[in-house]
Amino acid sequence: MLSDEEKREIDHELLHYPTKRAISLDALMVVQRHRGGWVSDESLRDVAEYLDMTPDELDSSATFYSRIYRKSVGRHVILLCNSISCWVMGYGDLRAYLHRRLGIDLGGTTADTRFTLLPIVCLGTCDHAPALMIDDDLYRDLTPDQLDALLERYT
Ligand code: FES
Repeated sequence: MLSDEEKREIDHELLHYPTKRAISLDALMVVQRHRGGWVSDESLRDVAEYLDMTPDELDSSATFYSRIYRKSVGRHVILLCNSISCWVMGYGDLRAYLHRRLGIDLGGTTADTRFTLLPIVCLGTCDHAPALMIDDDLYRDLTPDQLDALLERYT
């Protein structure tokens, strides 16, 4: 069951859209924010019920959008772009460095649950490849030697 605060935030989103279905991703983001950074099956059912959707309908939206996490993630999520421009401009070096530095590969979470590393399809900043996001922050034109200082910003 959604909390009063979750309902309040979802209702606020509803003010801007014509139908409940139109805010499905926003509603999932609300629940994700309130419930440890990911959307469990129970959370998905709670949101679906509130939006008059079936869990399967809502899950198809959730799995389509790469920033809704359907499995537990670390406190910070690193989304490493692995599309063509980034791939050409140094994705492999960034991935290898993050693997060495954090001890995880794509899909992994560090032992201290500080970071989860995930791939993402094009972050829309191809002219500044390679790029990654950490939580809501976008970083572009990256080289491996910039990554240590970047990671230190996230505790
Ligand atoms: S390919 Fe990485 S930002 Fe577009």
